[in-house]
Amino acid sequence: MNTENNALNKPFILIVDDEFLQRLPMTEALRHGGFRVAEAEDGAQAWELIQKETPDLVLLDVVMPVMDGFDLCLKIRQEEQFQHLPVVLATALDDLSSIERAYQIGVTDFITKPVNWGLLAYRVRYILRAARTSQALAKRELELLDTRMEIIRRLGQAAEYRDNETGTHVQRVSHISALLGRAVGLSSHDQELLLHATPMHDIGKIGIPDSILLKPEKLTQEEFAIMKTHTTLGGQLLDHEPSTLLRTAHTIALTHHERWDGGGYPRGLRGEEIPLVGRLCSLADVFDALTSRRPYKPAWSVQEAVEEIQKDSGSAFEPSLVAVFLALLPEIQKIRESFPDQGLFRGEKILEMASCEGGKS
Ligand SMILES: [Fe+2]
Ligand SMILES: [Fe+2]
Repeated sequence: MNTENNALNKPFILIVDDEFLQRLPMTEALRHGGFRVAEAEDGAQAWELIQKETPDLVLLDVVMPVMDGFDLCLKIRQEEQFQHLPVVLATALDDLSSIERAYQIGVTDFITKPVNWGLLAYRVRYILRAARTSQALAKRELELLDTRMEIIRRLGQAAEYRDNETGTHVQRVSHISALLGRAVGLSSHDQELLLHATPMHDIGKIGIPDSILLKPEKLTQEEFAIMKTHTTLGGQLLDHEPSTLLRTAHTIALTHHERWDGGGYPRGLRGEEIPLVGRLCSLADVFDALTSRRPYKPAWSVQEAVEEIQKDSGSAFEPSLVAVFLALLPEIQKIRESFPDQGLFRGEKILEMASCEGGKS
């Protein structure tokens, strides 16, 4: 049996205390309890050791020379890789403000001094188990979030596949909306929401017949009335959702065709009655639609699209948003270059396939 390997399998605890007479019994108690132990005399020495080998848990004294327990804990928490490293403060401190500060800087738990040597290993084992369980839960939560984001992204693309197989329009509109959102002061959390919710702005197109969606000619009044229902259909699809992300997507789907002057659809909302996320998506959506080729029109130049948007400032779009948009044009151009359109539209492919089959027969 390889004893060194056995030792490496044991949980590794780093004890940081400037007093030898404190470290000694702690080390013995933990070794006896089945742990591998290293010692450091102060925060600076501990920091060096942590970087060489990440311990499973750090047991820290508060008052030490060079770098005290609070400063070491702060340093540990500033590093992404040590975010979940359990840090336990061994302290005789009983004043609430120190304990409050310790929790604020990310201390995991406390062991009160004088330490009960007989119970130390049990306590450390319990804290380690709790930390591992919460890390596993956090990981699971992240995986669930990733899966949900992916499903949502694909749902948005599925809607776009109905008229544009590359799915790049929704990506460009999302990134442009989030960029505009950042410029008007949305928090990074809200920018993220916008980025992930905007791909669903046209999800309601799933319910629009191909004969209307792919029609290369101008729509009749009746057809346009049906086309307009993609907003309410999208709203219905995303309704009653408990998640903030899907609630934002619901708002965007419902309001991305409203106009600043009240002349939009489906509800004819006016000015700030239109939720900000809807106003942001509307501007990004129109700009991208104008500068993209569509079955019924060629792509406009950026200059032409910008002139159109300036012309519609105050009527279709909020004037202050148009100003922000103009200031961000170079960055918006970069987004367009990152997600170029490729290939044919679905309607064009259907036509192409039909002519090939016709040639064969
Ligand atoms: Fe739309
Ligand atoms: Fe769109």
